[in-house]
Amino acid sequence: MPSAVTWPDRLIAAVDQGLRAIAAPPGANRASPAAAIPDAELSAEERHSSAALMRVNHAGEIAAQALYHGQSLFARSSATRDLLANAAREERDHLAWCAGRIEELGGRTSLLAPFWYAGSFGIGVLAGLRADAESLGFVRETERQVETHLRDHLSRLPEHDAKSAAILSRMAEDEVHHGTTAALAGGAELPAVIRGCMRVGGEILRRVALIL
Ligand SMILES: [Fe+2]
Ligand SMILES: [Fe+2]
Repeated sequence: MPSAVTWPDRLIAAVDQGLRAIAAPPGANRASPAAAIPDAELSAEERHSSAALMRVNHAGEIAAQALYHGQSLFARSSATRDLLANAAREERDHLAWCAGRIEELGGRTSLLAPFWYAGSFGIGVLAGLRADAESLGFVRETERQVETHLRDHLSRLPEHDAKSAAILSRMAEDEVHHGTTAALAGGAELPAVIRGCMRVGGEILRRVALIL
């Protein structure tokens, strides 16, 4: 985004991005990693279980986009804004891949999507009000925790659900890249208490979106 763009312009853009993240059918810039994988025979119980896990991941991607949109509002440098925008764009791919897989599995997305977006956007704004090094440190830690979460979900997917596994594996690779990029751009290691609060927030989303 050009540096001449003011923060009210960015706020309007953020509202537009938020509405699209919650309400519009997500469009991906990259093909789903699951596209070339044939669907396996899954029992009704397995489909239900996979759909619930993918609902959590879909909600997580809404939250990730909201964090980065919120952070970019007050980012000090255009380099930080670009980094956040690039990460958010790839999170949108993740969102679309998860949404597509949920549909294939006959599941549904979280009923609390507006809440996940609004709450995460507010947290992103708070992080973005800090210096860029801290805001980028927030990205670094977020991505680290999301990668850990994705590895956990990969171990919990039904054994034959290769399509969902391909999506989560690719997402995990992207999250590592986002985190590394933020660290290389100067993202600072956050205090343990902040990292702990972030883990609690993530755990709330994981547990609630599994049901709602
Ligand atoms: Fe993601
Ligand atoms: Fe990410």
